[in-house]
Amino acid sequence: MSLVLAQNKNRILTISLNRADKKNAITLEMYAQLASLLQTAADDDTVNVVLLKGEGGCFSAGNDISVFAQRDEGDSISEIVAFMDALLHFPKPVVAQVQGVAVGIGTTLLLHCDMVYCDPNTQFCLPFINLGLVPEYASSYILPRIAGRRKACEWLMLGEMFGAQEAHQFGVVTAIESPEKLAEKVSSVCNKLASKPVFAMTHTKKLLTTEQDAIQQQINEELDVFLEALNTEAAKEAFDAFINKRPLNTEKFK
Ligand code: COA
Repeated sequence: MSLVLAQNKNRILTISLNRADKKNAITLEMYAQLASLLQTAADDDTVNVVLLKGEGGCFSAGNDISVFAQRDEGDSISEIVAFMDALLHFPKPVVAQVQGVAVGIGTTLLLHCDMVYCDPNTQFCLPFINLGLVPEYASSYILPRIAGRRKACEWLMLGEMFGAQEAHQFGVVTAIESPEKLAEKVSSVCNKLASKPVFAMTHTKKLLTTEQDAIQQQINEELDVFLEALNTEAAKEAFDAFINKRPLNTEKFK
């Protein structure tokens, strides 16, 4: 079974992360599939809306940490870049249905979706600091603007989990729906979006997408530091501790 599922029905392309046993942690192969699906859907007249979700009651635990742990210095992460680039420039509405956990890029990518619905038990986390890493994909630009600098600092400097209410209050999610009604709500929103006039919809999205140059510049700056951070002792220690399920040696964070 593929680790990424895709189904186009009624002009809604549903893309599902299908690695529930690993909390839908995303491998490079999965990023490549996601990028390819979005690139194709961008020009596909039979797709009006994309719905992103995860199988097994979980959105995503973010980047597969073993990918980072096994990476040699100088290796690219072009699959991740290709996926996020395709998401950032996707011309039609993207809706996310979020449950369980949304960690790391699982939260970051939501900042580039147009509408985000979660259930009340969803937990979000931007744990980069605890992995010796830095924010990615303009989260250091977008979060201070939507959540305020105080909350952005708390999320990005402490790297702790936060709940659905907080995510909603500070603009990361559009609305919270009960676990029983979440799929129905998202389906209703996607059906409404799919029935709207395509020309007006794509231009509405374009008009709402402001500050692209500043966002791209921040993404480039973040990526340079992120790649550097991947090679630090702190990051290597955090990856190894997670993979081997052992306590962190914080001496290596100094
Ligand atoms: N990369 C690789 N594997 C991951 C993963 C990730 N990001 N997140 C979870 N997994 C794996 C676990 O190792 C475990 O594998 P195993 O069953 O072979 O031991 C499985 O998924 C289930 O995870 P587990 O930790 O047992 O579930 P949980 O419900 O107790 O906790 C999380 C879920 C997401 C809170 C926890 O797994 C976690 O913190 N993951 C790391 C998230 C992260 O830091 N992502 C950002 C990377 S940049």
